[in-house]
Amino acid sequence: MPKVGVIGGSALDTVENLEVSHREMVNTPYGATSSPLLFGKMNGGDIVFIHRHGFGHTIAPHEINYRANIWALKELEVTHIIATGAVGGITEHMSPITLVIPDQIIDYTHSRNQTFYENNQEPVIHVDFTWPYDEQLRTVLNRSAVKLNLPVVSRGTYAAVQGPRLETAAEIKRLERDGCDIVGMTGMPEAVLARELDITYACCAVVVNWAAGKGNQEEALIDTINTNMKTAKASVHKLLAEALPMIMEL
Ligand code: HPA
Repeated sequence: MPKVGVIGGSALDTVENLEVSHREMVNTPYGATSSPLLFGKMNGGDIVFIHRHGFGHTIAPHEINYRANIWALKELEVTHIIATGAVGGITEHMSPITLVIPDQIIDYTHSRNQTFYENNQEPVIHVDFTWPYDEQLRTVLNRSAVKLNLPVVSRGTYAAVQGPRLETAAEIKRLERDGCDIVGMTGMPEAVLARELDITYACCAVVVNWAAGKGNQEEALIDTINTNMKTAKASVHKLLAEALPMIMEL
């Protein structure tokens, strides 16, 4: 039976409707996780929830201990991870409030610990990362969003950038030329670490602003992000509740 881990990003600091049974701090060989893990039930399914930025949102994207978070979920026998995260929209259909279930990612981050295969005695395995997100789990997320009538774009390429600053307009133009549709700061190395530990992983990205130089430049970027974050959070909550029973059938 699948066991679902939800990684909450900026757009999801808690999971509504989660009947929390207990919380636990998990120690890993890589150090502490971003937050204690919350265990609970939602819509009949078990969930383990972790907040990527820590409760109180104090951990910047480049400071997140991605290895500890993924290792802890594996240790708790999580089989499927839904990773949520706020992103900026680059291409035409990626307007604020839209949910995007990406099918590709380009990694522009640096200086992050991006593998479990170092400093140990195990032979190195070069994981296949041609398709970084799980197709079945993506389909469930897409179907759930459509069923709920939420604005969703069923695929796209996620540009994972270092942050914590937002981009320049020229950087966004370059990402667009590279084929990126959305831009966020936490997509990597999380996705590849899950792959290394053989955990099924998909991302539900929520567009909270037009990326730098795109859309209506008269609005203050940070104000837009804060307003859209609230709407986005409500959509992600609904999506999770709808998707959970379907994931249990996988
Ligand atoms: N750029 C990078 N990360 C983000 C953005 C953005 O515009 N919006 C939300 N996360």
